[in-house]
Amino acid sequence: MKDTQNPRLLAVHIIQEVINGHALTDSLAHIGPLTDQRDRAFLRALCYGICRWFWRLNAIASQLLKKPFKTRDQDIQVLILVGLYQLMDMRVPAHAAIYETVAVLVLLKKEWAKGVVNGVLRAFQRRLSSEISPSLRAQPLYPDWSEEAIYSHPQWLIDKLKQDWPEHWQSILTANNQLPPFSLRINQQHCSREQYLALLSMQDLVAFSIPETPYGIIMAEPMEAIQLPGFQRGDVSVQDGAAQLAVTLLELASGQRVLDACAAPGGKTAAMLETMPDIALTAVEYDSQRIAMLRENLSRLQLQANCICGDVGAVTTWWDGLLFDRILLDAPCSGSGVIRRHPDIKLLRRESDISAAVQQQWRLLESVWPLLQPGGIFLYATCAIFLEENVQLIEKFLALHSDAYEEKIAVSWGMPCVVGRQILPGMHEMDGFYYARLRKRGIFYAY
Ligand SMILES: C[S@@+](CC[C@H](N)C(=O)[O-])C[C@H]1O[C@@H](n2cnc3c(N)ncnc32)[C@H](O)[C@@H]1O
Repeated sequence: MKDTQNPRLLAVHIIQEVINGHALTDSLAHIGPLTDQRDRAFLRALCYGICRWFWRLNAIASQLLKKPFKTRDQDIQVLILVGLYQLMDMRVPAHAAIYETVAVLVLLKKEWAKGVVNGVLRAFQRRLSSEISPSLRAQPLYPDWSEEAIYSHPQWLIDKLKQDWPEHWQSILTANNQLPPFSLRINQQHCSREQYLALLSMQDLVAFSIPETPYGIIMAEPMEAIQLPGFQRGDVSVQDGAAQLAVTLLELASGQRVLDACAAPGGKTAAMLETMPDIALTAVEYDSQRIAMLRENLSRLQLQANCICGDVGAVTTWWDGLLFDRILLDAPCSGSGVIRRHPDIKLLRRESDISAAVQQQWRLLESVWPLLQPGGIFLYATCAIFLEENVQLIEKFLALHSDAYEEKIAVSWGMPCVVGRQILPGMHEMDGFYYARLRKRGIFYAY
């Protein structure tokens, strides 16, 4: 097998990139195509699993290693994680997992480490086979594990969750380590949810409705989106149930002028247009690559929006001067609600990133609020669960803006907060999401 086709070697490179600050999806996209479909799926599962269990795997490795590797041998340390993860959580026979992992040392030109890598993996395999429950997900393996190893999260994140969610932090950490469901939004302009479920069932594909959403379903088994029936003709899109709920809070009606302030890749833009195709929707997105994804999504779904690439906070650079009836600000955030979908967030995010995100959220909120028509609805949403980015930000905003008031979200899902509503990760099988619905008082606002 060529080096470029060896999934274990590629996993080592990709995890090293993530450790050095690159997003997992980007690193996976940058590697050349793996010709074997099973290898592609294997590589993906390896990388996501290692990010998910990074702290736990490192704790096991340091327990079994006599001394840590030098910085220049980080690749060997990561290779050990690759081996441990296969033994811990994958269906690869143990002898093959160990043999193939050790063989990667030849490709890394570090044959000298074969003995130690082999020894660590074999010791772990022996430890696992002596356990009643071989799954490390089920229970900590070593009595002196730190919280980082038990919950497989960085300590600052554990501490922050304890502080913000004293009654829920453990269930949040557990949910963050679960595999996310494969959730879809049915395009109501093409078919009903029941019709699409019937179509799936005819192809022996099992799925069920997400009762909190009007058009959401979860597939029992994940698959490539492109393989979904009707995907190319726009019958269905991949979207978590929590993200689908945003559009239900906007009270969209024909002819409204709507601003989607941070729009790409366009999940909510499309959901709005599927709900009410004859709104005049302006979608603003800063990132040119991401706006290309938004355009692609709209084109597949045969939907129209005025897509603008720019900083939505620099209003004078893109705004035509006409107020909006509805504004959705799906703000850039810590992503702390979507860790189960993007476990690399645990490696990438730093505690100091949170205050930078809050500053940006405040700037966008302040700049876009004046564009709302008196009587109009402003929906602030994030896929975050930290209070600073959500409740605290909106409380401060309401205290400083007498022309804004909260319109309570009276629904059966999520949990009410002092201001707005929160879904915590795993609730209703959804991602963690926050929403605050504000309305503008009917006073004249000169911009
Ligand atoms: C949470 S994502 C939006 C997800 C999107 N609403 C959806 O449902 O698919 C936030 C987006 O805001 C964009 N963004 C960040 N800062 C921005 C700015 N100043 N102006 C416009 N877009 C911005 C990011 O590039 C990112 O695509």
